[in-house]
Amino acid sequence: MADIDHFIDGARLWARHEALATFGATPAGGVDRPALSRAEIDARAQLMTWAAAIGLQPSTDDIANLFLRLPGRDPDLPPVLVGSHIDSQPTGGKYDGVYGVLAGLECLEAIVAAGAKPRRSIELVCWTNEEGSRFAPGMMGSAAFAGKRRLEDILAVRDADGVTVAGALRAVRAAENALAHRPLGGTPAAYVEAHIEQGPILDMRSIPIGVVTGIQGKRTFRVRIVGEENHAGTSPRSARKDALMDSVRIVSALRDTFADPDDIVRFTVGMFTVRPNAPSVVPSEVEFSIDLRHPDTSALARLGDQVAPICKANSLTCEAEIRELIHDPPLEFPGPLREKIRLAAAARGLGHMEIPSGAGHDARYLHYICPTAMIFIPCWKGISHNENERITPADALAGARVLATLVLGLAGE
Ligand code: GLV
Ligand code: MN
Ligand code: MN
Repeated sequence: MADIDHFIDGARLWARHEALATFGATPAGGVDRPALSRAEIDARAQLMTWAAAIGLQPSTDDIANLFLRLPGRDPDLPPVLVGSHIDSQPTGGKYDGVYGVLAGLECLEAIVAAGAKPRRSIELVCWTNEEGSRFAPGMMGSAAFAGKRRLEDILAVRDADGVTVAGALRAVRAAENALAHRPLGGTPAAYVEAHIEQGPILDMRSIPIGVVTGIQGKRTFRVRIVGEENHAGTSPRSARKDALMDSVRIVSALRDTFADPDDIVRFTVGMFTVRPNAPSVVPSEVEFSIDLRHPDTSALARLGDQVAPICKANSLTCEAEIRELIHDPPLEFPGPLREKIRLAAAARGLGHMEIPSGAGHDARYLHYICPTAMIFIPCWKGISHNENERITPADALAGARVLATLVLGLAGE
C-alpha cells in the first residue's frame, strides 16, 4: 500500500460531499445546481475556501473553468490536471461530477500533508457546464479548453429563460472579481478524472474500482415542430396543424427505428416542450431533445443519420426543423494509463475491472489534447441523474487512493 494512503482522509472526503450538497439542495435529498447559477457560484466559493487552506492558487478562464493549482518543483513544466464538474442535472444527486472534484482535492490535501513535492504542478479543475442541462450542449468548459468548440459560439447559447452564457458568465465574474484570470486552453501533461460509474456493473459485482476503457459515442439533436394554434372545440381535424400530434408520431417512429434487441442503442427524448401548453388550444409548437448513444462509430453514424429524414417524413401537417448539437464518436483511453490504474488498485488489494463509460465526461475533450484516464467507483444500483444517487464512504476512499497514486506518478515524485 502506498504511503500517500495515510494522508487521504475518508471522513473529510465524505463530509465535503455533504457540505457541497447544501448548495442547491433539493427537498428530496438531491441537488439542483445549474451551470453558472448562484448555487454553483456559492459551491465554487466553498471549494476555494478549502483550497486556500492548503495554499492552492485559484484562477479562472474565459469560460469560468476553475483551476486550483499546487505548484510543482518545476512550475514551467506542463501540469497534471485532475477534476470533473460541480454543476448538476435539475434533479441530480450529490456525487455526479462532485466526486471527481472532491477526490482530486483530497489527493492534493494528502500530497501537501505528506510533504511530497511533485515535479510538475497539479491543477484541480472544475469544468464549466458539463451537464448541458441549463445550456446545451454540455461539456462547454472542457470543449472550449481543448479548442473543440469556439468560444463565441458557446457564449451565444441561451437557457430556457433566454439568458446567454455570456450573460451568466458576467454574474460569475462579478461574484469572483478578485480571482486571477488565465488564458483559455493549455497543454496539460495529463488529465485524470474520477467519477461514479452511473451504471450498475461495479455495484452488481461488488468491484470498487473501474478502469475506464473509453466513452461511447453520442449524438444530440434539437427538433422544433411548428404548426398553428387553433380552437380545440371548433377547428376540424382536416384544418389543424397540430405540432404535438406530429411530434408524437415522430417520437414513435424514432423509437421503432432505434429498437434494439441487444439493448446497446441508447435513445432518449428527455426534454419535451409544448406551446402554448393550454388545454383548449391546438399546440402550435413543440421542441424536443434527442440523445442517441452507441459504442460503435459506424452504427452511431448510421442511426443518427436517420433522425432528420424520420422527423421530416412523420411531420405530416407541420414544419420540422432539426439541429444537430453534438456528434462525438466513441473513444478509447490510452492503455499505459489504464495499466497504472490497474496496478494502483492491485497494490491495495482492491478489486478492479475494465469498464466502458456509457455516460459522457469532460475527459472526452481532454483526451484529444493529452493522455487522459478515468477511474470509476460504484454507485448504488447504477442510479444516477437522480436525487437518490448513492455511493459508500469506503468506495469513495478507495477511489481517492487510487487517484492519488495515479496523479502523483504522473506529476513525478
Ligand atoms: C453526462 O452527464 C451525460 O449525459 O453523459
Ligand atoms: Mn458527470
Ligand atoms: Mn451527469
